[in-house]
Amino acid sequence: MYHLTLKTEQIMMAARFNSTISKNVTIAKKFVLDKHFNGLPKRTDIKLVEETLPQIQNGEFLTEAVYLSVDPYIRAYQPLTKLGRVMMCLQIAKVIESNSEKFPIGTYVVGDYGWRTHTISCEKSFGEKVMGWKLPPFGTLPLSVGLGMLGLTGNTAYFGLLDICQPKANETVVVSGAAGAVGSHVGQIAKIKGCKVIGIAGSDDKGKWLTNELGFDHFINYKEPNILEKLKQFAPNKVDCYFDNVGGELSSNVMRCMNKFGRISVCGAITAYNSNPADLPKATLVQGMMAIQQLKMEGFIVTTFFPRWMEGIEQNLKWLQEGKLKYRETITDGFENTFQAFVDMLQGKNFGKALVKV
Ligand SMILES: NC(=O)c1ccc[n+]([C@@H]2O[C@H](COP(=O)([O-])OP(=O)(O)OC[C@H]3O[C@@H](n4cnc5c(N)ncnc54)[C@H](OP(=O)(O)O)[C@@H]3O)[C@@H](O)[C@H]2O)c1
Repeated sequence: MYHLTLKTEQIMMAARFNSTISKNVTIAKKFVLDKHFNGLPKRTDIKLVEETLPQIQNGEFLTEAVYLSVDPYIRAYQPLTKLGRVMMCLQIAKVIESNSEKFPIGTYVVGDYGWRTHTISCEKSFGEKVMGWKLPPFGTLPLSVGLGMLGLTGNTAYFGLLDICQPKANETVVVSGAAGAVGSHVGQIAKIKGCKVIGIAGSDDKGKWLTNELGFDHFINYKEPNILEKLKQFAPNKVDCYFDNVGGELSSNVMRCMNKFGRISVCGAITAYNSNPADLPKATLVQGMMAIQQLKMEGFIVTTFFPRWMEGIEQNLKWLQEGKLKYRETITDGFENTFQAFVDMLQGKNFGKALVKV
């Protein structure tokens, strides 16, 4: 009897202090900004630190990173990042501990957690203060696609091309950064819409992938001369839509070839991301050609489309399942190699989506 009573007390005590007694302490690894970048980022600009996470509270859940997204915007937004802050990025993470009915253990989420291995999220702020969403089921497709064609980059291609350029069948579409995650997707959507597509990227190997495998009609290597002549040759009826990932003189050249009432979707300006603010690249004035050809140029940030987020994911999933979209991923193994993956992407070593498998 005495033995039984003692056992009951022990169980009650254990239940009361369950979170501190039975759960292991989680130590998250994270990369933080240590020095603002000057030109191409250096490994010494960031620091790997450890953080002991507290126990999760009611409504909270603990995730473990599975894939990190490696994006140019990390470089573009870096001047606005305070020193000591975790490097930004989206990641696919698995819920490994939970005090939330909405996010049970085993749930996969996309979260704006940055370059870190473990994160505590609160169900109330997830999807509101923290950008994120639950990963929908993708059938036989791998999880990683949730950061590429079925994630932020896929939605950037979908909304940025269709809403802003509104391409019509038989029109000519030019896309720069064409062999990257967004660009390779944009060109394929333009093909689905019946357009002629010219891709511009930085190597002939990328060009072969675009024309031989993805169905682009023409390719231009922007590192070679005579870009304007090649544009005129490949677009004898001029360019109706330009999806601009890069900016700079290349984009001014494309704009010199545009048709009346052409549309330009300004998605990014990677030409300038590694430049210091005082030393930004200069490009030929575009206002003259804009006025004469009555062009419409519109910038966008994909999160504006958050209210329609699942529309993009569902349509891209359908096209993938129908075999109308193809994708390629450049996956770097190991959390500790995240910085190298980032710099490789900035230098054009990726085909399609750049990712880290943690
Ligand atoms: N507006 C938005 O909401 C939004 C959302 C996502 C992405 N973006 C933008 O979309 C663009 C593409 O992003 P992504 O994630 O798909 O990256 P990505 O294209 O997969 O990777 C970046 C690529 O940029 C190219 N590049 C690097 N330096 C360049 C330069 N000086 N001139 C021309 N090309 C250069 C490289 O390919 P090469 O071998 O061809 O040089 C590299 O592979 C970026 O500008 C990004 O900021 C915007």
